[in-house]
Amino acid sequence: MSRTPLNLLLIGANRGIGLELATQFAARGDNVTISCRHLDDSLEALPFDIITDVDITTDAGLNNLKEAVDDQQFDGVFCIAGLLEKVTLDELDIESIRRQFEVNALAPLRVAALLKDHIKPNGKLALMTSRMGSIEDNGSGGSYGYRMSKTALNAAGKSLAIDLAEQKIAVALLHPGYVRTRMTQFNGLMDSDESAKLLIERFDGLNLENSGSFWHANGELLPW
Ligand SMILES: NC(=O)c1ccc[n+]([C@@H]2O[C@H](COP(=O)([O-])OP(=O)(O)OC[C@H]3O[C@@H](n4cnc5c(N)ncnc54)[C@H](OP(=O)(O)O)[C@@H]3O)[C@@H](O)[C@H]2O)c1
Repeated sequence: MSRTPLNLLLIGANRGIGLELATQFAARGDNVTISCRHLDDSLEALPFDIITDVDITTDAGLNNLKEAVDDQQFDGVFCIAGLLEKVTLDELDIESIRRQFEVNALAPLRVAALLKDHIKPNGKLALMTSRMGSIEDNGSGGSYGYRMSKTALNAAGKSLAIDLAEQKIAVALLHPGYVRTRMTQFNGLMDSDESAKLLIERFDGLNLENSGSFWHANGELLPW
């Protein structure tokens, strides 16, 4: 029996893991819309609807997103955009920590508030977090802005799972693995295509019973 294509919106998906997710969802027949800040020439040929000028840390960007989705309803929204900047105790760059909070913690929450009524009942909201947001799993210290902002995202995601349950929207906090992208200067344990394949498995398996959990893309439940 053929599967009904999903109507999906991916936020911050013009490169890296997001672009690979969009490519794989589209390849299996889902209707994919991505949003991004800038449109690279290379994106025009891809089989997505593309919403540009969406910096999710700004009112203007979020207004552009709101206007573009207008009366659309999605089966799933995946918020992927993220920022990693190095911050050490000896060089405590507070502006960098703020920037990472804006992108990694505050923006996904604003996106969720903006789009919650554009997600169908029994739909899904996936938030791309990081294992580095786990307090219990922190074995190497440092990375103040990134760790703190992803921990904050995890806290927001848990509240979202509780608050959106009455709308029958399931929420997942997903760690993609250590993936070779520009964010990691192309270091990592896997490529974006492998990570995206696993993330899609987690996305497909998300439901109201397991909503509000923090998963590694490989299916392992991660500690808070
Ligand atoms: N790679 C890993 O090993 C790894 C591990 C754990 C978690 N993650 C998370 O996975 C997600 C994707 O990471 P990636 O590795 O694919 O990184 P990436 O290649 O650096 O991609 C980051 C994406 O976020 C977008 N973005 C950043 N700030 C934005 C903003 N203000 N508004 C809209 N879009 C914005 C970027 O758009 P521009 O092109 O406009 O900059 C880009 O599309 C992130 O949330 C990251 O924290 C990655």
